[in-house]
Amino acid sequence: MILSVDLKGNSYDIHIKRGILKDLPGTVDLDRKVLIVTDSGVPEIYSRTVASRSGEPVIVTVPEGEGSKSIREFEHILKVMLSHSFSRKDCVVAVGGGVPGDLAGFCAASYMRGIDFYNMPTTLLSQVDSSVGGKTAVNLDGIKNIVGAFYQPKAVIIDPGTLDTLPERQLANGYAEALKMSVTSDSSLFEIFENEDPLLHIETVIEKALKVKISVVEQDEKERGLRRILNFGHTIGHGIESCAGGELYHGECVAVGMLAMSSKEVRSRLLPVYEKLGLPVSCRYAAQDIFSACMHDKKSSGARVSAVFSDRIGSCYIKDMDFESLIPLIDSVTEGRTS
Ligand SMILES: NC(=O)c1ccc[n+]([C@@H]2O[C@H](COP(=O)([O-])OP(=O)(O)OC[C@H]3O[C@@H](n4cnc5c(N)ncnc54)[C@H](O)[C@@H]3O)[C@@H](O)[C@H]2O)c1
Repeated sequence: MILSVDLKGNSYDIHIKRGILKDLPGTVDLDRKVLIVTDSGVPEIYSRTVASRSGEPVIVTVPEGEGSKSIREFEHILKVMLSHSFSRKDCVVAVGGGVPGDLAGFCAASYMRGIDFYNMPTTLLSQVDSSVGGKTAVNLDGIKNIVGAFYQPKAVIIDPGTLDTLPERQLANGYAEALKMSVTSDSSLFEIFENEDPLLHIETVIEKALKVKISVVEQDEKERGLRRILNFGHTIGHGIESCAGGELYHGECVAVGMLAMSSKEVRSRLLPVYEKLGLPVSCRYAAQDIFSACMHDKKSSGARVSAVFSDRIGSCYIKDMDFESLIPLIDSVTEGRTS
Protein backbone atom coordinates (compact mmCIF):
# COMPACT_ATOMS: atom_id res chain seq x y z
CA MET A 1 0.00 0.00 0.00
CA ILE A 2 1.22 3.51 -0.79
CA LEU A 3 0.00 6.63 1.00
CA SER A 4 1.01 10.05 -0.29
CA VAL A 5 1.82 13.11 1.75
CA ASP A 6 1.08 16.18 -0.35
CA LEU A 7 3.27 19.07 0.81
CA LYS A 8 3.92 20.86 -2.51
CA GLY A 9 7.74 20.84 -2.92
CA ASN A 10 8.17 18.47 0.03
CA SER A 11 5.73 15.71 -0.99
CA TYR A 12 6.60 12.07 -0.46
CA ASP A 13 5.22 8.55 -0.40
CA ILE A 14 4.83 6.14 2.49
CA HIS A 15 5.22 2.52 1.40
CA ILE A 16 3.65 -0.06 3.72
CA LYS A 17 4.31 -3.73 2.99
CA ARG A 18 5.42 -6.74 4.95
CA GLY A 19 8.94 -7.65 3.77
CA ILE A 20 9.53 -4.32 1.99
CA LEU A 21 12.92 -3.77 3.68
CA LYS A 22 14.26 -6.64 1.56
CA ASP A 23 12.53 -5.34 -1.53
CA LEU A 24 12.89 -1.56 -1.49
CA PRO A 25 10.96 0.39 -4.11
CA GLY A 26 12.96 1.75 -7.08
CA THR A 27 12.22 5.34 -6.02
CA VAL A 28 14.42 4.87 -2.95
CA ASP A 29 17.83 5.82 -4.32
CA LEU A 30 20.52 4.17 -2.21
CA ASP A 31 23.09 3.94 -4.99
CA ARG A 32 25.38 6.45 -3.27
CA LYS A 33 26.93 7.03 0.17
CA VAL A 34 24.28 6.06 2.72
CA LEU A 35 24.60 6.88 6.40
CA ILE A 36 22.41 4.36 8.21
CA VAL A 37 21.49 5.39 11.76
CA THR A 38 20.17 2.65 14.03
CA ASP A 39 20.39 1.86 17.73
CA SER A 40 21.79 -0.98 19.82
CA GLY A 41 18.33 -2.42 20.58
CA VAL A 42 17.17 -2.70 16.97
CA PRO A 43 17.87 -6.18 15.58
CA GLU A 44 20.95 -5.76 13.38
CA ILE A 45 19.38 -7.68 10.53
CA TYR A 46 17.28 -4.62 9.58
CA SER A 47 20.20 -2.20 9.17
CA ARG A 48 22.30 -4.89 7.49
CA THR A 49 19.49 -5.58 5.03
CA VAL A 50 19.35 -1.88 4.12
CA ALA A 51 23.16 -1.71 3.95
CA SER A 52 23.24 -4.66 1.55
CA ARG A 53 21.09 -2.64 -0.82
CA SER A 54 23.18 0.53 -0.54
CA GLY A 55 26.04 1.68 -2.77
CA GLU A 56 28.44 2.81 -0.02
CA PRO A 57 26.83 2.16 3.37
CA VAL A 58 28.16 3.47 6.67
CA ILE A 59 26.27 2.20 9.72
CA VAL A 60 26.23 4.22 12.96
CA THR A 61 24.71 2.40 15.95
CA VAL A 62 23.85 4.72 18.84
CA PRO A 63 22.99 3.36 22.30
CA GLU A 64 19.30 2.50 22.57
CA GLY A 65 17.07 4.89 24.47
CA GLU A 66 16.00 8.52 24.67
CA GLY A 67 19.48 9.53 25.89
CA SER A 68 20.72 9.22 22.31
CA LYS A 69 18.54 12.11 21.18
CA SER A 70 21.38 14.35 22.28
CA ILE A 71 23.70 17.00 20.93
CA ARG A 72 26.55 14.55 21.63
CA GLU A 73 25.16 11.85 19.29
CA PHE A 74 24.14 14.52 16.78
CA GLU A 75 27.74 15.79 16.68
CA HIS A 76 29.11 12.24 16.53
CA ILE A 77 27.00 11.38 13.48
CA LEU A 78 27.88 14.62 11.69
CA LYS A 79 31.57 13.90 12.31
CA VAL A 80 31.18 10.40 10.85
CA MET A 81 29.59 11.92 7.75
CA LEU A 82 32.38 14.45 7.48
CA SER A 83 35.09 11.82 7.91
CA HIS A 84 33.52 9.74 5.11
CA SER A 85 33.32 12.86 2.90
CA PHE A 86 29.55 12.79 2.56
CA SER A 87 28.38 15.35 0.02
CA ARG A 88 25.05 16.99 -0.66
CA LYS A 89 24.30 14.16 -3.14
CA ASP A 90 24.46 11.48 -0.43
CA CYS A 91 21.75 10.49 2.03
CA VAL A 92 20.82 9.47 5.57
CA VAL A 93 18.54 6.54 6.45
CA ALA A 94 17.00 5.93 9.87
CA VAL A 95 16.39 2.27 10.72
CA GLY A 96 14.71 1.99 14.11
CA GLY A 97 12.13 3.72 16.27
CA GLY A 98 11.45 7.36 16.99
CA VAL A 99 14.82 7.87 18.66
CA PRO A 100 17.04 7.08 15.66
CA GLY A 101 14.34 8.61 13.42
CA ASP A 102 14.29 12.00 15.16
CA LEU A 103 18.08 12.03 15.54
CA ALA A 104 18.94 10.94 12.00
CA GLY A 105 16.34 13.30 10.54
CA PHE A 106 17.92 16.24 12.34
CA CYS A 107 21.38 15.20 11.13
CA ALA A 108 20.05 15.02 7.55
CA ALA A 109 18.39 18.43 7.97
CA SER A 110 21.61 20.01 9.23
CA TYR A 111 24.44 18.42 7.27
CA MET A 112 25.35 20.79 4.43
CA ARG A 113 22.01 22.54 5.13
CA GLY A 114 20.05 19.43 4.25
CA ILE A 115 20.63 16.15 2.42
CA ASP A 116 18.17 13.42 1.43
CA PHE A 117 16.57 11.52 4.29
CA TYR A 118 14.68 8.20 4.25
CA ASN A 119 12.87 6.95 7.32
CA MET A 120 12.48 3.18 7.80
CA PRO A 121 10.64 2.88 11.12
CA THR A 122 10.75 -0.42 13.01
CA THR A 123 8.64 0.30 16.13
CA LEU A 124 4.88 0.62 16.05
CA LEU A 125 5.09 4.11 17.52
CA SER A 126 7.35 5.25 14.70
CA GLN A 127 5.25 3.45 12.07
CA VAL A 128 1.97 5.06 13.12
CA ASP A 129 3.32 8.46 14.04
CA SER A 130 6.87 9.76 14.33
CA SER A 131 8.23 8.74 10.91
CA VAL A 132 5.69 10.94 9.13
CA GLY A 133 5.35 14.69 9.38
CA GLY A 134 8.94 15.89 9.30
CA LYS A 135 9.52 16.72 12.95
CA THR A 136 13.15 16.02 13.78
CA ALA A 137 14.88 16.90 17.04
CA VAL A 138 17.24 16.20 19.90
CA ASN A 139 16.76 16.98 23.60
CA LEU A 140 18.76 19.51 25.62
CA ASP A 141 19.07 19.99 29.37
CA GLY A 142 16.25 17.55 30.01
CA ILE A 143 13.86 19.36 27.68
CA LYS A 144 12.47 17.12 24.98
CA ASN A 145 12.76 18.02 21.32
CA ILE A 146 13.89 21.55 22.10
CA VAL A 147 16.47 21.66 19.28
CA GLY A 148 15.36 20.49 15.88
CA ALA A 149 13.89 21.25 12.47
CA PHE A 150 10.91 20.52 10.30
CA TYR A 151 12.49 18.36 7.62
CA GLN A 152 10.45 16.00 5.48
CA PRO A 153 11.83 12.61 4.40
CA LYS A 154 12.11 11.67 0.72
CA ALA A 155 10.13 8.50 1.48
CA VAL A 156 9.00 6.43 4.44
CA ILE A 157 9.34 2.65 4.24
CA ILE A 158 7.19 0.72 6.70
CA ASP A 159 7.72 -3.01 7.06
CA PRO A 160 5.14 -4.32 9.56
CA GLY A 161 7.19 -7.54 9.65
CA THR A 162 9.71 -5.72 11.87
CA LEU A 163 7.07 -5.66 14.60
CA ASP A 164 7.50 -9.44 15.00
CA THR A 165 10.63 -8.77 17.08
CA LEU A 166 9.18 -5.86 19.07
CA PRO A 167 8.49 -6.55 22.77
CA GLU A 168 4.81 -6.46 23.76
CA ARG A 169 5.19 -3.39 25.94
CA GLN A 170 6.70 -1.50 23.01
CA LEU A 171 3.75 -2.58 20.89
CA ALA A 172 1.37 -1.09 23.47
CA ASN A 173 3.50 2.05 23.44
CA GLY A 174 2.76 2.41 19.73
CA TYR A 175 -0.91 1.58 20.13
CA ALA A 176 -1.16 4.60 22.45
CA GLU A 177 -0.25 7.00 19.63
CA ALA A 178 -2.64 5.27 17.22
CA LEU A 179 -5.35 5.47 19.88
CA LYS A 180 -4.61 9.18 20.13
CA MET A 181 -5.40 9.62 16.41
CA SER A 182 -8.56 7.56 16.82
CA VAL A 183 -9.87 9.56 19.77
CA THR A 184 -9.30 12.94 18.11
CA SER A 185 -10.25 12.05 14.57
CA ASP A 186 -11.36 8.51 13.61
CA SER A 187 -13.98 6.58 15.55
CA SER A 188 -13.69 3.61 13.13
CA LEU A 189 -10.06 3.18 14.19
CA PHE A 190 -11.13 3.38 17.83
CA GLU A 191 -13.65 0.61 17.23
CA ILE A 192 -10.86 -1.71 16.07
CA PHE A 193 -9.20 -1.19 19.47
CA GLU A 194 -12.51 -1.56 21.24
CA ASN A 195 -13.82 -4.67 19.50
CA GLU A 196 -10.91 -6.52 17.91
CA ASP A 197 -7.34 -7.67 18.48
CA PRO A 198 -5.49 -4.75 16.83
CA LEU A 199 -2.48 -6.95 16.03
CA LEU A 200 -4.65 -8.99 13.67
CA HIS A 201 -5.45 -5.75 11.82
CA ILE A 202 -2.07 -4.10 12.15
CA GLU A 203 -1.81 -2.84 8.57
CA THR A 204 -5.26 -1.25 8.85
CA VAL A 205 -4.30 0.32 12.19
CA ILE A 206 -1.12 1.77 10.64
CA GLU A 207 -2.99 2.98 7.56
CA LYS A 208 -5.84 4.63 9.46
CA ALA A 209 -3.54 6.29 12.02
CA LEU A 210 -1.28 7.62 9.28
CA LYS A 211 -4.24 8.93 7.29
CA VAL A 212 -5.19 11.06 10.29
CA LYS A 213 -1.63 12.28 10.67
CA ILE A 214 -1.22 12.97 6.94
CA SER A 215 -4.44 14.95 6.77
CA VAL A 216 -3.40 17.14 9.69
CA VAL A 217 0.19 17.62 8.47
CA GLU A 218 -0.99 18.50 4.95
CA GLN A 219 -3.15 21.27 6.37
CA ASP A 220 -0.59 22.55 8.87
CA GLU A 221 2.95 21.38 8.12
CA LYS A 222 4.67 23.58 10.73
CA GLU A 223 2.25 23.38 13.65
CA ARG A 224 0.76 26.83 13.45
CA GLY A 225 -2.70 25.64 14.47
CA LEU A 226 -4.51 22.42 13.55
CA ARG A 227 -1.39 20.25 13.94
CA ARG A 228 -1.64 20.84 17.68
CA ILE A 229 -4.38 18.22 17.79
CA LEU A 230 -1.60 15.66 17.39
CA ASN A 231 -0.48 16.81 20.83
CA PHE A 232 -3.59 15.32 22.43
CA GLY A 233 -2.32 13.75 25.65
CA HIS A 234 1.11 15.33 25.25
CA THR A 235 0.72 18.50 27.37
CA ILE A 236 0.56 16.49 30.57
CA GLY A 237 2.18 13.41 28.97
CA HIS A 238 5.48 15.25 28.42
CA GLY A 239 5.38 16.44 32.05
CA ILE A 240 4.91 12.85 33.20
CA GLU A 241 7.70 11.70 30.87
CA SER A 242 10.12 14.21 32.44
CA CYS A 243 9.26 12.91 35.92
CA ALA A 244 9.44 9.27 34.83
CA GLY A 245 13.13 9.44 33.92
CA GLY A 246 12.73 6.56 31.46
CA GLU A 247 10.56 4.42 33.74
CA LEU A 248 7.54 4.92 31.48
CA TYR A 249 7.64 4.93 27.69
CA HIS A 250 6.56 7.94 25.63
CA GLY A 251 3.28 6.34 24.52
CA GLU A 252 2.50 5.25 28.08
CA CYS A 253 2.91 8.85 29.29
CA VAL A 254 0.73 10.08 26.44
CA ALA A 255 -1.89 7.46 27.34
CA VAL A 256 -2.11 8.79 30.90
CA GLY A 257 -2.09 12.35 29.56
CA MET A 258 -5.01 11.55 27.22
CA LEU A 259 -7.17 10.41 30.12
CA ALA A 260 -6.60 13.77 31.80
CA MET A 261 -7.97 15.58 28.74
CA SER A 262 -10.97 13.31 28.14
CA SER A 263 -14.60 13.74 29.14
CA LYS A 264 -16.20 11.15 31.40
CA GLU A 265 -17.76 9.51 28.33
CA VAL A 266 -14.45 9.23 26.47
CA ARG A 267 -12.66 7.95 29.59
CA SER A 268 -15.26 5.26 30.10
CA ARG A 269 -14.54 3.91 26.62
CA LEU A 270 -10.76 4.35 26.92
CA LEU A 271 -10.27 2.54 30.22
CA PRO A 272 -11.26 -0.96 29.02
CA VAL A 273 -9.10 -0.48 25.92
CA TYR A 274 -6.11 0.49 28.10
CA GLU A 275 -6.70 -2.60 30.18
CA LYS A 276 -6.78 -4.77 27.08
CA LEU A 277 -3.58 -3.22 25.68
CA GLY A 278 -1.71 -3.06 29.00
CA LEU A 279 -1.46 0.74 29.10
CA PRO A 280 -1.25 2.61 32.43
CA VAL A 281 -4.29 4.55 33.62
CA SER A 282 -2.45 6.69 36.18
CA CYS A 283 1.02 7.51 37.41
CA ARG A 284 2.64 7.77 40.79
CA TYR A 285 4.60 11.00 40.45
CA ALA A 286 3.76 14.06 42.54
CA ALA A 287 1.23 16.28 40.76
CA GLN A 288 3.35 19.34 41.62
CA ASP A 289 6.41 17.83 39.90
CA ILE A 290 4.39 17.00 36.79
CA PHE A 291 2.99 20.53 36.77
CA SER A 292 6.49 22.06 37.03
CA ALA A 293 7.72 19.83 34.22
CA CYS A 294 4.75 20.86 32.04
CA MET A 295 5.68 24.51 32.57
CA HIS A 296 9.10 23.80 31.15
CA ASP A 297 7.64 22.14 28.08
CA LYS A 298 8.34 24.05 24.92
CA LYS A 299 4.69 24.08 23.87
CA SER A 300 3.94 26.53 26.65
CA SER A 301 4.10 30.22 25.99
CA GLY A 302 4.05 32.54 28.97
CA ALA A 303 1.44 31.75 31.59
CA ARG A 304 -0.93 30.11 29.13
CA VAL A 305 -1.07 26.78 27.38
CA SER A 306 -2.90 25.44 24.33
CA ALA A 307 -4.33 22.07 25.28
CA VAL A 308 -6.33 19.51 23.31
CA PHE A 309 -9.47 17.92 24.77
CA SER A 310 -11.92 15.27 23.62
CA ASP A 311 -15.58 15.07 24.65
CA ARG A 312 -16.53 12.41 22.12
CA ILE A 313 -14.57 9.62 20.40
CA GLY A 314 -13.57 10.84 16.93
CA SER A 315 -13.53 14.53 17.77
CA CYS A 316 -11.50 17.07 19.74
CA TYR A 317 -11.06 20.76 20.38
CA ILE A 318 -8.18 23.05 21.35
CA LYS A 319 -8.50 25.29 24.38
CA ASP A 320 -6.21 28.13 25.34
CA MET A 321 -6.03 28.12 29.11
CA ASP A 322 -4.14 29.27 32.20
CA PHE A 323 -1.37 27.00 33.32
CA GLU A 324 -2.99 26.66 36.72
CA SER A 325 -6.02 25.03 35.07
CA LEU A 326 -3.79 22.03 34.37
CA ILE A 327 -3.52 21.24 38.09
CA PRO A 328 -6.91 19.53 38.59
CA LEU A 329 -6.39 17.65 35.31
CA ILE A 330 -3.01 16.37 36.50
CA ASP A 331 -4.59 15.49 39.85
CA SER A 332 -7.14 13.34 38.05
CA VAL A 333 -4.43 10.98 36.74
CA THR A 334 -2.07 10.80 39.67
CA GLU A 335 -2.27 7.53 41.56
CA GLY A 336 -5.63 6.28 42.67
CA ARG A 337 -7.71 9.03 41.05
CA THR A 338 -8.72 7.80 37.64
CA SER A 339 -12.26 6.49 37.81
N1 LIG B 1 8.95 13.18 15.26
C1 LIG B 1 7.73 13.02 15.73
O1 LIG B 1 6.76 13.50 15.16
C2 LIG B 1 7.52 12.18 16.97
C3 LIG B 1 6.23 11.76 17.33
C4 LIG B 1 6.09 10.92 18.44
C5 LIG B 1 7.21 10.53 19.17
N2 LIG B 1 8.43 10.97 18.78
C6 LIG B 1 9.64 10.57 19.51
O2 LIG B 1 9.83 9.17 19.31
C7 LIG B 1 10.61 8.65 20.38
C8 LIG B 1 10.02 7.35 20.85
O3 LIG B 1 10.03 6.45 19.78
P1 LIG B 1 9.95 4.87 20.01
O4 LIG B 1 8.88 4.58 20.96
O5 LIG B 1 9.95 4.25 18.68
O6 LIG B 1 11.31 4.59 20.83
P2 LIG B 1 12.73 4.00 20.45
O7 LIG B 1 13.22 4.50 19.16
O8 LIG B 1 13.58 4.26 21.64
O9 LIG B 1 12.45 2.43 20.32
C9 LIG B 1 12.02 1.70 21.44
C10 LIG B 1 12.89 0.47 21.70
O10 LIG B 1 12.59 -0.52 20.73
C11 LIG B 1 13.81 -1.03 20.19
N3 LIG B 1 13.44 -1.49 18.83
C12 LIG B 1 13.23 -0.71 17.75
N4 LIG B 1 12.76 -1.46 16.74
C13 LIG B 1 12.72 -2.74 17.18
C14 LIG B 1 12.29 -3.97 16.61
N5 LIG B 1 11.77 -4.02 15.39
N6 LIG B 1 12.39 -5.09 17.34
C15 LIG B 1 12.86 -5.04 18.64
N7 LIG B 1 13.24 -3.91 19.25
C16 LIG B 1 13.16 -2.76 18.52
C17 LIG B 1 14.78 0.10 20.30
O11 LIG B 1 16.09 -0.37 20.33
C18 LIG B 1 14.38 0.73 21.61
O12 LIG B 1 15.01 0.07 22.68
C19 LIG B 1 10.62 9.72 21.47
O13 LIG B 1 11.89 10.34 21.47
C20 LIG B 1 9.57 10.71 21.00
O14 LIG B 1 9.84 12.04 21.40
C21 LIG B 1 8.62 11.77 17.71
